[in-house]
Amino acid sequence: MPAIVLVGAQWGDEGKGKATDLLSSRIDYVVKFNGGNNAGHTVVIDGEKYALHLLPSGILTPGCIPVIGNGVVIDLAVLFEEIDALNIRGVDTSRLVVSANAHLITPYNRVLDRVTERFLGSRKLGTTGRGIGPTYADKMSRVGIRVQDLFDESILRQKVEAALAVKNQILIKIYNRRIVEVDEVLDEFKKYADRLRPMVVDTGLLLNTALDEGKTVLFEAGQATLLDVDHGTYPFVTSSSPTAAGACIGSGVPPTRIDRVIAILKAYTTRVGEGPFPTELLDDSGELLRKTGAEYGTTTGRPRRCGWMDTVVGRYATRVNGVTDFLVTKLDVLTGLEQVPVCVAYDVGGVRFDEMPMSQSDFHHAKPIYENLPGWSEDITTCRTFEELPANAQSYIQRVEELIGSRISAIGVGPGRDEIIERHSLLG
Ligand code: GDP
Ligand code: IMO
Ligand code: MG
Repeated sequence: MPAIVLVGAQWGDEGKGKATDLLSSRIDYVVKFNGGNNAGHTVVIDGEKYALHLLPSGILTPGCIPVIGNGVVIDLAVLFEEIDALNIRGVDTSRLVVSANAHLITPYNRVLDRVTERFLGSRKLGTTGRGIGPTYADKMSRVGIRVQDLFDESILRQKVEAALAVKNQILIKIYNRRIVEVDEVLDEFKKYADRLRPMVVDTGLLLNTALDEGKTVLFEAGQATLLDVDHGTYPFVTSSSPTAAGACIGSGVPPTRIDRVIAILKAYTTRVGEGPFPTELLDDSGELLRKTGAEYGTTTGRPRRCGWMDTVVGRYATRVNGVTDFLVTKLDVLTGLEQVPVCVAYDVGGVRFDEMPMSQSDFHHAKPIYENLPGWSEDITTCRTFEELPANAQSYIQRVEELIGSRISAIGVGPGRDEIIERHSLLG
């Protein structure tokens, strides 16, 4: 199984970091292909916690080559802060390679992300404020700054000048903010250029050659299916393509080379930021999930909105990503509930929807139709085979599997690297 894509099935924070870390020891390359430091992946190794934002989670595994693909947007200050922090903890980051075509998050795009949100007031999206949206907008408008531009000073200056001619008008005239100076931007870039240069390679060529040689490559998504700019709950989405097809666009590896798609599905649902969320719990049950599951954002520290498992979303993730295997995480968090509700369909104004409604308005009005499954009270964190799980936990997994239409090959029973049940090999 040489090329494997790993995606989030819901609204993010499903446990992609842990899943990548789990697989990394059996993988040659781990590629981040979308997003930037809006991601927050927590990995726990031998009780030590690592929070990664921009670096692929494979960086924690010696021998695995971490790759930042062309589809990523890079904040250089964050990149080197993260590298330095890992180095201090003894993690070797020298294998990291970065695409020459990845775009750079500029100081003006960080500012624009925040002032736009403030300007929107109650209509805000709840972004992470890292400059992600404006940087992808520049990419599409063809005024973005790329990694390779750092190494040609005159081109870099021209591009920054051209971009700022427009951005500064927006900052002053619409948002009443101070302008950003060209040299302020260039100085930030120059500070990191020399350190970055040896890491920059043609990552598309590197990865395709690795696959030719029979190496294994894991493509690790940031964000998730319902945050995808095309397939998510637009406009309450991020600005990249975190679905499986995005792995190809964001890396230069073609669809015909992808062998397997693993989707990470939390045993319940969480969402950070604004936007529709049919199974959201605004009562004590939501608070219980938040507390038990420690659902606070890795990136912004915001409390995550919590709700029950939504298998309409799960089925949609199966379809959009072509999922071959699911990894269900955080089953342990559901322990102790008398009943575990699972959303099987929606009611929209008296009409039943078994699939995601086509229109945004219908999705905003969707009321979950639940099936109540019996809970379990036994501690499951030490279970390492499916058969060791209490009968009701097994039934929960089997019913969810039926509803989402793809097999559940692994189950997370705790945050640690080894707290996992692998029913079927995830790597084939
Ligand atoms: P990501 O963004 O998809 O990588 O997910 P996050 O790291 O933001 O959030 C997932 C959280 O759940 C992290 O704190 C993980 O350590 C934790 N986690 C992952 N899998 C499990 C699991 O099976 N059980 C429990 N209790 N925690 C888990
Ligand atoms: P990981 O990789 C959860 C959400 C933000 C906001 C929307 C747009 O840890 O799963 P952006 O800053 O991307 O323009 O914000 O997307 N969001 C995430 N939510 N997990 C993430 O990443 C997210 N990355 C962005 O909260 O609603
Ligand atoms: Mg996260």
